[in-house]
Amino acid sequence: MRFDVVTLFPDMFTGYLGQSLLHKAIEQGLVEVELHNLRDWSKDKHHNVDDRPFGGGPGMVLKVDTIVECVEEIQSQPDEKPHLVMLTPQGRRLDQRVVEELAESSRLILLCGRYEGFDQRVVDILDPDEISIGDFVLNGGEVAAMVLVDALVRMVPGVLGHEQSNQDDSFSRGNRLLEFAQYTRPRDYRGHRVPDILLSGDHERIAEWRKQQSLERTQKRRADLLDPPPHSQDESKTD
Ligand code: ADE
Repeated sequence: MRFDVVTLFPDMFTGYLGQSLLHKAIEQGLVEVELHNLRDWSKDKHHNVDDRPFGGGPGMVLKVDTIVECVEEIQSQPDEKPHLVMLTPQGRRLDQRVVEELAESSRLILLCGRYEGFDQRVVDILDPDEISIGDFVLNGGEVAAMVLVDALVRMVPGVLGHEQSNQDDSFSRGNRLLEFAQYTRPRDYRGHRVPDILLSGDHERIAEWRKQQSLERTQKRRADLLDPPPHSQDESKTD
C-alpha cells in the first residue's frame, strides 16, 4: 500500500513513520509513504501557500492553484490511479467500515489542511473523498492522516504478526463487539488477581468467557453497536 501525503509539515510524520510496526512494514516493502511538502509547489517567491479569505473573516485559506498542481503531479505518475482523500472536519466520519473500504485501494493521496481550510475550488476540481476522524477540530489534517495510515496499514496482509489479528479487532467486518479484557503476568498484583478461568487451560471455556466479556462490555459501554440487540431475536421466539 502506498501513501502520498501532501502537507505543510512533513516533519510531523517522521517520528511516527519510524516507530515499530509501521517502520517494519516500510522496511519489508509492504507499505510506502512519500511525503510532499506543499510549499514546494508554491509559485510565489516567499513560498506562500495561503491567502486571506474573500469576503473577509479571520484566518487564512489554502490556495487552490498550489494544491491542485501538486495533486495533479502526483496523480500523473504511471501506476494505479490513487484514491484522493482530504482530511477535514467536514468529511464523512471515519469508522472501521470506511477503513475497510479505503483499504481496497493500494494507493492513496492524503491531503492535509491547515489554517481555516481549503479554497472550495480544491474540492470542486479534485473531487476528493473528504474524511473526518471525529466531531472535533484539530489544528490540521496531519494527525488525522496518521490516524488513517495507522488504521489502514493493519489491513495490509503481512503487516500484523498473525493474520487473524485484525479480524479479531473490535469493529472489524462482522465484529461489532468491544474486545474482552486481557491479562499477563504477574497472576496477582496488589491483590488484583487474574480470573481463574484464564489459568484453567480449558480453551473452550476460555473462549466462551471471553465472548461473554465482550458482550457485557459492549452492552455497558457501547450499546449503540448492538443493533439489533443480540437477545431481541431470542425474545421474539419465547411465546
Ligand atoms: N482537520 C481538522 N480537524 C479534523 C478532523 N476532525 N478530522 C480530519 N481532519 C481534520
